[in-house]
Amino acid sequence: MSRDFKIAAAKAALTLLEDGMKIGLGTGSTAEELVRALAPLVADGLSVIAVPTSERTGVLAKQLGIPVATLDEYPHLDLTIDGADEIDSALRLIKGGGAAHLREKIVACASDRMAVIADHSKLVGTLGAFPLPLEVIPFGLAATRRAIEHLCRDTFALAGPLTLRKNAGNPVLTDSGNVVLDASFGRIPDPEGLAAELSQIPGLVEHGLFINIADIAFVAGPDGVATITPGPAD
Ligand code: 5RP
Repeated sequence: MSRDFKIAAAKAALTLLEDGMKIGLGTGSTAEELVRALAPLVADGLSVIAVPTSERTGVLAKQLGIPVATLDEYPHLDLTIDGADEIDSALRLIKGGGAAHLREKIVACASDRMAVIADHSKLVGTLGAFPLPLEVIPFGLAATRRAIEHLCRDTFALAGPLTLRKNAGNPVLTDSGNVVLDASFGRIPDPEGLAAELSQIPGLVEHGLFINIADIAFVAGPDGVATITPGPAD
């Protein structure tokens, strides 16, 4: 069922596509449904250039015959379509569950529009139940971690473990060779403030808060696909 919702959201977002567009392709299981749904359109003659947000998405797109390019070749895109880990009513997002939020943010911000695709489980009242991914340069990791802890506790009263993301016992490395700290805050009442301050910490390359980046979300559930545009926060 969850997969059906992801497919429905992806297909809804594809209605934004126009012939000749340059598009960013997101990362994750929902974005992969997007790539799978896009492939037959390309096979039928739709002309698009796709810039993937991860190596993983790039491999899948190429396998399915979608023309792939780099952001350096096409630094200005028409549209990026990507998944999310959490979405609130103001269309603020947490991303990075797939450790790709650095490239995802660069690609989304190089695009005229960002469309989010998700199943309804990603909608939240307040961001933060999903641990916030923080991409950190390995050099000085302990110092960067300490700076993040101090900021979050002293300025935002956010306490919660910062966990180094691992896979099979080894730190997960992003496509850019960095590691990920997952910050389990539970609730983030001031995402704008936190995002601005996290961006000041040296060594923290990018956080997973996407504020004022997404333009529209297609959220699929048992009642169909709902469209969300940015509104005031609850
Ligand atoms: C990857 C992401 C993904 O978009 C996010 O994790 C959602 O993934 P999925 O569609 O598999 O639930 O931010 O870094």
